[in-house]
Amino acid sequence: MTRHVAIGLLLAACGDDPAGGSRALRAAPIDFTSGAPIDGDVTVVVEGLAPTRAATVTGGTFVVTGVPDHSIVDLVVAGAGVYRATRSTVELDAADLDVAPRVITEAALAQLAADVGVTMTPERGVALLHVATPDPATDLAFDGDAVGPFPLADDWVAYFEVAPGLPLVTASPTASGSFDAQLAITAGTVTIAELAVRGTPEALPAPLRFAEHVVPILDERGCTACHDGLAAHAAAYVTLAAPTSSALLAMPSRSNAGHPNVVFAGPNDLAYRTILQWIAFGAKTD
Ligand code: HEC
Repeated sequence: MTRHVAIGLLLAACGDDPAGGSRALRAAPIDFTSGAPIDGDVTVVVEGLAPTRAATVTGGTFVVTGVPDHSIVDLVVAGAGVYRATRSTVELDAADLDVAPRVITEAALAQLAADVGVTMTPERGVALLHVATPDPATDLAFDGDAVGPFPLADDWVAYFEVAPGLPLVTASPTASGSFDAQLAITAGTVTIAELAVRGTPEALPAPLRFAEHVVPILDERGCTACHDGLAAHAAAYVTLAAPTSSALLAMPSRSNAGHPNVVFAGPNDLAYRTILQWIAFGAKTD
């Protein structure tokens, strides 16, 4: 990545608290199978924030404080040998948030794998997706190495033996609705995602104008709350020859661990696609 040392971005505030407001995330995990509050203590890893923040755990619930506004945060929750480490993604707006992430027991996971005849290996992960689509076998497109999809009850779909990485799951061209998610997959961990099915893919605004379409995104996603100079200097953070590697897109994305927070849900995030299109057409600010 190119560093723009000469210009640099003015950060709106200094000190211990992140600029742009910080929120609390309160979580009361529930059992994937029963939906009941989980029994016993949990351990929690919070991903997507730099520097990392620890959760304050009280029995089966926990709190994470100091989360910047508009952050996309992954919670990896496990429980004393009974619950498999299970990752859920939550998105904080400019408000505190209460969530009930699902966590699956080792026994329930082993049963699901046995039901579909898959042997799980420790180097791979599992994805459990909730997506109300008529035919998961043909409606889902998964751009990663995995075994599946296996339709489960209640609109859940499983992929086993998923290679670690950031695979995309999208609607196949023949699916009637549109949905997508970028999943974070790690070895030995279950990743759970709820995919909202939309009628048609959101269209990009056309013609695309910087002041009208790009600047509002920088405001709405909290960028300008932390970066005073971002709207004025946005064009300095683009790489015209390789638009997706532009710092403007790459820094606040999942693939980058050095930014205070993850802001873009993935490459299908409408805000991400709008900025990408603006860069592809030359990043003009007039
Ligand atoms: C919570 C505050 C915060 C938010 C919100 C935030 N940033 Fe940042 N951003 C930072 C900090 C702090 C750094 C410096 C990170 C480092 O280099 O260690 C940074 C670095 C960057 C850089 C690299 C700057 C350089 O000089 O190389 C870019 C580009 C950037 N952010 C874009 C964005 C965009 C676009 C958004 C919104 C989608 C955003 N940021 C949201 C705090 C924030």
